[in-house]
Amino acid sequence: MAFSFKNMFLSQVAIDLGTANTLIYVKGNGIMLDEPSIVAYDKDGEIIAIGSEAREMLGRAPEDIKIIRPLSDGVIADFEATEHMLKSFIKKVQIIRPTIIVCIPSGVTEVEKRAVRDSAERAGAKLVKLIYEPMAAAIGVGLDIAQPVGNMIVDIGGGTTEIAVISLNGIVVKESIKVAGDGMDKAIMNFFKRKYNLLIGDKTAEEIKINIGSAYPLDKEVKTLVKGRDLVAGAPKVKEITSEEIREALEIPIKKIVEAVKMTLERTPPELAADILDRGIMLTGGGALLKGLQKRLQTETNLAVHVAEDPLRAVVLGTAKALENMTTYAKVLI
Ligand SMILES: Nc1ncnc2c1ncn2[C@@H]1O[C@H](COP(=O)(O)OP(=O)(O)OP(=O)(O)O)[C@@H](O)[C@H]1O
Ligand SMILES: [Mg+2]
Repeated sequence: MAFSFKNMFLSQVAIDLGTANTLIYVKGNGIMLDEPSIVAYDKDGEIIAIGSEAREMLGRAPEDIKIIRPLSDGVIADFEATEHMLKSFIKKVQIIRPTIIVCIPSGVTEVEKRAVRDSAERAGAKLVKLIYEPMAAAIGVGLDIAQPVGNMIVDIGGGTTEIAVISLNGIVVKESIKVAGDGMDKAIMNFFKRKYNLLIGDKTAEEIKINIGSAYPLDKEVKTLVKGRDLVAGAPKVKEITSEEIREALEIPIKKIVEAVKMTLERTPPELAADILDRGIMLTGGGALLKGLQKRLQTETNLAVHVAEDPLRAVVLGTAKALENMTTYAKVLI
């Protein structure tokens, strides 16, 4: 990480402040930070860990250590923690008073926008601009958003699923639902509780989702061992489960996402709908990596569905592109 003194002060930074992960791109240096959006405080309110280090403590910390996810459902849930986290992350990439573009979900209120802006300013930003997440995702995957052509983006993050039809630098139709990766983890936790009286942690649920979760029958169904605490006996227990069961557990959130995509298609003006028929749907966000989701959406919509090359980074890369070409993208910056 070689920085010139001049670089430090004239820095321009793109941030994907996500519910699950925060990514920071520094102009001229690329993506310099990619960490979970998590902060750990001790009993005196001092930060003891952020990012990956704080994530390791999830579900394993004593009572006097507070582990906070400052964002939930795509928006700031804890203003102070968000500010602390941003400040630490910005310090980590060794940037002082940067110009920042932060992406925000398309469904946020004015108050929520204000909160993101204030957080970034109080974390040391000189100038803050905002960009809508599906717009950033579209730019990130290389779509030409200025053309009079409809493109549909579905970004499935941790807190929100953002669906948007973009044309002529604008979002023509959009839907933002608070069902995404976190909701899938919760669904898996609930499933174990209901069916097996087994309590499992968030982290375990996420691992199960990533390893054997699916939205469409797999070519080869698999089994895995899950460890948790038996609610009846109160003792640790191991249970063998199948990928079919996890698919069943994920059905409620998956169905909500599929329905939201279908509803957005129904609300899309006919010319743009025709474009989407030709071009298909583009999936971004970590949720796009769920096994079989592409196939499931394809089957349910009868449209071609593409998964971005690097779904977890599409948003930050698009935000970065907007940062590098602020004049070209002036219309999409808020
Ligand atoms: N291989 C995978 N299969 C399924 N889900 C995955 C996979 N990899 C990551 N995820 C999930 O993707 C989510 C994180 O995605 P992403 O980083 O795009 O979210 P975010 O931008 O932080 O959230 P948001 O946009 O809602 O604020 C997490 O819920 C994570 O569990
Ligand atoms: Mg996101």
